[in-house]
Amino acid sequence: MSKKIFSGVQPTGNLHLGNYLGAIKNFVDLNNDDENECIFCVVDLHAITTKQDKEQLRNNIRETAATFIASGIDPSKSIIFNQSKVHAHSEGSWMLSCMAPMGWLNRMTQFKEKAGKDKEKASVGLYIYPILMASDILLYDATHVPVGEDQKQHLELTRDIAQKFNKDFNCADFLKVPEPLIKKDFSRIMSLKDGLKKMSKSDPSDLSRINLTDTKDEITNKIKKAKTDSFPISNEKNKLKDRPEAENLLGIYSSISNQTLDKTLEEFDGKNFSDLKSQLAEILSSKISPISDEIKKLINEHKYLDELLEQGASKAEEIAGKKINEMKKIIGF
Ligand code: TYM
Repeated sequence: MSKKIFSGVQPTGNLHLGNYLGAIKNFVDLNNDDENECIFCVVDLHAITTKQDKEQLRNNIRETAATFIASGIDPSKSIIFNQSKVHAHSEGSWMLSCMAPMGWLNRMTQFKEKAGKDKEKASVGLYIYPILMASDILLYDATHVPVGEDQKQHLELTRDIAQKFNKDFNCADFLKVPEPLIKKDFSRIMSLKDGLKKMSKSDPSDLSRINLTDTKDEITNKIKKAKTDSFPISNEKNKLKDRPEAENLLGIYSSISNQTLDKTLEEFDGKNFSDLKSQLAEILSSKISPISDEIKKLINEHKYLDELLEQGASKAEEIAGKKINEMKKIIGF
């Protein structure tokens, strides 16, 4: 069955292995299936929910588009654009904000994590950002949304908002209720320094993550320094629960090698972390450094990237513009 795929990535720099294994690698697989219609969005309006430097933001928008292409997304088979170019995203976000109860937003754990202790100082944008995300998805009648595990709650909210809109305005099936596509395994890649913390662009320690622009040497060094425990690797899967760093490294190895965790456990049963680390560094280098090289090449091609985003935006505008006009009519404008 053909799927309408929509997903987004924030251009906030330091795209990392978590973004790749949790999301972008799946974008590539979905894009390779000719049956699917794919839209990949550089969500720059989401990025400004926290303070951004103007020049850096501009570079990060290009770098995110470059990362999509360097990772293997074929721009001739998908729409790649940046969110701020298509007005409908903000308009839709406002209209949906007016129907989403605050109680639903108050449950969003990511806001609590990102706002930290001083919620009063967090921007209103950060609080309502899941509604902008719902607008992104619903404007394109997306049937499937590939994301990492950390976005699960936002997708549940998107589904609830779609259903409430359809009910409130008595327009059954107008907003399509999307299915999340979250990999059963390895959809939450953890920090290399703390197996209980998500790998994140905002972690102050660069050693906590493999950036998609890291060189072979940087990858090898980071894997060498990754936290482990002092026991040998065992093939007993249930024991991994208490060994988060071991579980994470074995998960990364499995995911990047496209094999099950069971197979990886069999491969490393009784071995030391030094064996796992040297093989992991090798396979990561072989898969990530070609992407890194390509990003570094593409990032200087401003004209190419800007034109690509411009063309993507005009295609996206056609789809989203139609939907927003229908939405306005339904509301009564
Ligand atoms: P963002 O930019 O934080 O992350 C982009 C994608 O990477 C995934 N991801 C991870 N997956 C596994 N392990 C990790 N450590 C990890 N870190 C990040 C995220 O789950 C995500 O899929 N709100 C979204 C962007 C967005 C969006 C959308 C996504 C805006 N509109 C519409 C889908 C559809 C975000 O901030 O992702």
